[in-house]
Amino acid sequence: MPYLDHAATTPLHPDVLEAMLPWLQGGFGNASSLHRDGRRARGAVEDARRRIARHLNAEPAQIVFTSGGTEADNLALRGTVGRGQALVTSEAEHEAVLKTADALEADGRTVVRLRPDDAGAVSPALLARTLAAMPRVALLSLMHANNETGVLADLPALAAAAHDAGALFHTDAVQSAGLLPIDVQALGVDLLTASAHKFYGPKGVGLLYVAPGVDLDPLVTGGAQERGRRGGTENVAGIVGMAHALDLAAARRDETNARLLALRLRLLDRLTEALGGRFVLNTPLHRSIPSVLNLAFPPNPSPLDAEMLILGLDLEGVSASAGSACTSGALTPSHVLLALGLPRETAAAAVRFSLGSSTTEADVDTAADALVRVLARVDR
Ligand SMILES: Cc1ncc(COP(=O)(O)O)c(C=O)c1O
Repeated sequence: MPYLDHAATTPLHPDVLEAMLPWLQGGFGNASSLHRDGRRARGAVEDARRRIARHLNAEPAQIVFTSGGTEADNLALRGTVGRGQALVTSEAEHEAVLKTADALEADGRTVVRLRPDDAGAVSPALLARTLAAMPRVALLSLMHANNETGVLADLPALAAAAHDAGALFHTDAVQSAGLLPIDVQALGVDLLTASAHKFYGPKGVGLLYVAPGVDLDPLVTGGAQERGRRGGTENVAGIVGMAHALDLAAARRDETNARLLALRLRLLDRLTEALGGRFVLNTPLHRSIPSVLNLAFPPNPSPLDAEMLILGLDLEGVSASAGSACTSGALTPSHVLLALGLPRETAAAAVRFSLGSSTTEADVDTAADALVRVLARVDR
């Protein structure tokens, strides 16, 4: 039963579970308590923070633990864009950024949403032109790897354009963290979001990297945890699990990525052989994370819809996704594919396969054959 939806979430790695268990059983102390149990929990949290910071080429104090990617995106945007200031983002961001931008706009901030280029990422030249014409931009928020198409943005160039305009730069690296090395210094970012459940860690824990000197208003107020930037008792087991998952991802990165690239190509070759020009390829193969393959199906002659394809694949035992556009259950075309310029009917009929570390050649062959059968049933 091939699970090809790793961009939605990944299974918890057994070694990560093992690293977490002591903190769910005997080591239940509150990391803020002064006694021995509390100090042990504090030690585990700070050890995890140091390990995670090292992976990102950051200092431990620059890591703020959150409940996941959505909260970290909210913290980055709401924590830095003040009243009367502007936020620049793109039409192809994840809802965690787009909906937060909508809320900030409704609350009086200026929001500009840039259109991505043909490959799906914002061009640094367009960004520089936009910023030259805009006063009071506090923050740019542009994702590293797109969750629907996998396209990668040129972060160093985008961050440089932000800094030239005196703005901060945030990136949502939820889809790239774990898969790609993330060096916050080399990327030039001021704020960066990651989420453990996308790299074989537990759900409900993530982080925001915050560069020195960034003035960040807390989103969750309460206790003084996370240096006053995020109140609430720390999720000790989750934080330990996230550090362990990142250690494992880094240790096997090259081997995993080589495998993923080969498997993605095999999937595409098999589909191309069976379907010829029946689909549009939405993933730029030379500028994307290696795990994602996004295809859309133009009307043939009647339009298809993604839900029909995903449920058809599900009946065949294959878990895939239509991207994040289908989560509401409504047949709305993907906002990312519309931003790429796809016609509505084609954008509403996209399938995203996302491969993972346990995906095999047999999995991708099964998935390709299943999709061919589903299309044969639904094409009219
Ligand atoms: C690009 C991106 N950002 C943010 C999120 C939200 O992360 P979380 O599920 O940890 O809240 C996701 C999850 O799908 C994502 O793909």
